[in-house]
Amino acid sequence: MTMGVDGRSVIVTGAGSGIGRAAALAFAAQGDRVLVADLDAEGAAATVEEIERSGGTAVAVTGDLSEQAVVDRVTATAVERFGGVDVLVNNAGIMDSMSAAADVADAEWDRVIRVNLTAPFLLTRAVLPHMLAAGRGAIVNTASEAALRGSAAGAAYTASKHGVVGLTKSLAVMYRKNGVRANAVCPGGTATAIAVEADPAAHGPAALGPHFVNLGRVSQPDEQATAILFLASEAAGNINGAILPVDDGWSAV
Ligand SMILES: NC(=O)c1ccc[n+]([C@@H]2O[C@H](COP(=O)([O-])OP(=O)(O)OC[C@H]3O[C@@H](n4cnc5c(N)ncnc54)[C@H](O)[C@@H]3O)[C@@H](O)[C@H]2O)c1
Repeated sequence: MTMGVDGRSVIVTGAGSGIGRAAALAFAAQGDRVLVADLDAEGAAATVEEIERSGGTAVAVTGDLSEQAVVDRVTATAVERFGGVDVLVNNAGIMDSMSAAADVADAEWDRVIRVNLTAPFLLTRAVLPHMLAAGRGAIVNTASEAALRGSAAGAAYTASKHGVVGLTKSLAVMYRKNGVRANAVCPGGTATAIAVEADPAAHGPAALGPHFVNLGRVSQPDEQATAILFLASEAAGNINGAILPVDDGWSAV
């Protein structure tokens, strides 16, 4: 399977950790040049270092992707350093406190929607002119099992990830005539650093009780990265608007 054209310009957000780092390493290993975007400067630098140690090309841009200025810096750096943007992986995200709607504070709602949904929109809007000018592009969004059901997280996270699916489908339809594809992966439980933003005894999966039944095996970040790489590749040329669960069958239950 051809996984991609050598030397593409790839932006991966949240690439300082977990699924994003695994995806950044995988793109770099096949010869793509990777812009590592993350809030966490140390994590981003470590990813770049690992890529460069293996002979790959990467650059880090640090900042909060929910801020337009950071989004603009990411886009400008990719264009200046790599000559455009061929692939955008909107992967950075945060968990919520697993709270039901009545218990969600304004601040939690605003932050989770801003980071998980608005930030991918902002970056997509920023890179699209470059993809459209080139007549090609692939966008892969990291949604979640919580984009498919109401019982995998709290109200804010669930709403944000359903929004990511909506954004993905809109992009797929609106830009299919322009050579730009958009797809999403929906990871089930994955072994990363992502943390529930509250006391797990008071909230967390346990509080969701019988609604939270993860029947799947917890995946490794590499397994999510493989799916992201495939959706971004030429081998997936006719796959557009697909919402792909990578969850050992959890969504099939
Ligand atoms: N781990 C899971 O079980 C799981 C399941 C379903 C979906 N996901 C999704 O996968 C994606 C990646 O998460 P992960 O599991 O690798 O977690 P992670 O915490 O290991 O990585 C997330 C990265 O995103 C970065 N980030 C967070 N907010 C940011 C912001 N505002 N600006 C820039 N960077 C920011 C963090 O610094 C971190 O490096 C997220 O969108 C998450 O919602 C994870």
